[in-house]
Amino acid sequence: MFVYEKKLQYPVRIKTPNPKLASFIISQYGGPDGELGASLRYLSQRYAMPYPELKALLTDIGTEELGHLEMIGAIIHQLTRNLTDEEVRSCPAFAPYFVDHTTGVYPTAASGFPWNAASIGVKGDVICDLSEDMAAEQKARVTYDNILRLSDDPDVNDVIRFLREREVVHFQRFGEAVRLAKEKMDQKNVYFTNPAFDR
Ligand SMILES: [Fe+2]
Repeated sequence: MFVYEKKLQYPVRIKTPNPKLASFIISQYGGPDGELGASLRYLSQRYAMPYPELKALLTDIGTEELGHLEMIGAIIHQLTRNLTDEEVRSCPAFAPYFVDHTTGVYPTAASGFPWNAASIGVKGDVICDLSEDMAAEQKARVTYDNILRLSDDPDVNDVIRFLREREVVHFQRFGEAVRLAKEKMDQKNVYFTNPAFDR
């Protein structure tokens, strides 16, 4: 079960609304490499993970990603609250989103494609899943790098840098997990096959 703590993992305090910025940061909410997909990928993969310490790692990181989803939601909300009609009209990048969702926070990619489970993988195979997880963390880091290239708001960038740093840490931890999994497979003299099915 989850116990909700009513605070963000890292504070989000944005002073200046900026719907244009919101229209691409939304990708880390519901885009192909965003935080919703990250949390569901790890929290779903953990059931078939045969090694308890790696199951725990997936639970830890999957739970943290839910906290990141919440932070991205807070960024989108703070960037779009109290907009005037004129501010919406003068921002063509945000207008299509506004038509569909007003200023509600909706899981979609910056390109407009709504969140889809097809953007995550759960294969039930140790090496497949952990390799996907490393790639996912790397892709999330690149997306945060791209956001930093497009944003000049220091309040936003401070939070994005924190999130980017966490992706680097997760990438490292999944790298260690692959190494640990391979050691365990070597112990049984089973090389990188699925221990649940391949003998
Ligand atoms: Fe992550």
